[in-house]
Amino acid sequence: MVNIAKPIMGEDELKGIKEVLDSGMLAQGKVVDDFEKEFSKYLDVEYSKAVSNGTAALDIAIKSLDIGKGDKVITTPFSFIASSNCVLFQNAEPIFADIKEDTFNLDPDLVEEKIDNDTKAILVVHLFGQPADMNAFLDIARDNDLYLIEDCAQAHGAEYAGRKVGTFGDVGTFSFYPTKNMTTGEGGMIVTDDEELAEKADLLRDHGQREKYTHNMLGYNLRLTNIAAAIGRAQLEKLDGWNEKRIENAENLTCGIDKIHGLTAPKVSEDVKHVFHQYIIKVEDEYPLNRDELIERLQENDVGTAVHYPKIIPEQPIYAENGYSANGYTNALKSARRVLSLPIHPSVSESDIKKMLRILDISN
Ligand SMILES: Cc1ncc(COP(=O)(O)O)c(C=O)c1O
Repeated sequence: MVNIAKPIMGEDELKGIKEVLDSGMLAQGKVVDDFEKEFSKYLDVEYSKAVSNGTAALDIAIKSLDIGKGDKVITTPFSFIASSNCVLFQNAEPIFADIKEDTFNLDPDLVEEKIDNDTKAILVVHLFGQPADMNAFLDIARDNDLYLIEDCAQAHGAEYAGRKVGTFGDVGTFSFYPTKNMTTGEGGMIVTDDEELAEKADLLRDHGQREKYTHNMLGYNLRLTNIAAAIGRAQLEKLDGWNEKRIENAENLTCGIDKIHGLTAPKVSEDVKHVFHQYIIKVEDEYPLNRDELIERLQENDVGTAVHYPKIIPEQPIYAENGYSANGYTNALKSARRVLSLPIHPSVSESDIKKMLRILDISN
């Protein structure tokens, strides 16, 4: 079976976990500090704050920017639901702008026309591992005095114009869920160059305490454990190598898919390093099978697939019940109806790729 995702765990992870278990210091401590320092160095950013998952990272980032009731945040309708739910958690209003059909990322031209006096931030998602158009978003944010938040949950190590994503905006967030390009089991990271924001994030994740049992603000417990951080440190060492393998797999898949009538391979933008968290093809009307039939054909041949995402966020029941609708997001809707994710992770071999291409080519 070629699975759609497969976390890779090795001796380094085991050694790190054992050291933490032997130390007896299981909760947030020195290993988390070390993981944060190494993550900051990797990204070239001043501060990294580890938290319990990517949703917590986004939640704390938005709260740290004092975004709340009456504020609007412009974001993409085509992402995992956490991206916009974190705006709702603070009683602020997500405002959706449509995506670019070829990259699946938020379209900067459409963001600009949604800005009004209540707009406080733009929340960009580097979807599937492909950086969004950061020069355009930086210009819009600067011209309109808006915060820029980067959801990098799917883009560890991705680069735009030679610089790693997460370092462009006021704050960036990452997820270390097991399907991601690197994992800690569950986990997340907030990254920023802003000392005040880093300090707030530090307090919010740990009951608002600067020193033990002195609580300076209302905070949560959204800490990462030393055990998870030990896994993260070992994974970070291997991230670049794994990303290279994902890129190589993507190139080989695209080479074959370009020759198959009715399937569209993912587009890679100019001057970016796309780290292929997911490899997304589009099943067009001209393909002999519809998407469900193709999923079945792949399944019957032991190839796992997924649809990221079958619904756009404004048409999710929780959003529809609150007055949102799918209208106006033509490209996002079209994408949701056509996309199909194929296995691309570093354990996918050349022969797996040949096999997938044989199955996809119906003339075989
Ligand atoms: C784009 C995006 N944002 C946020 C998250 C939330 O991360 P987590 O699952 O670690 O809470 C995810 C996770 O899948 C994601 O893909």
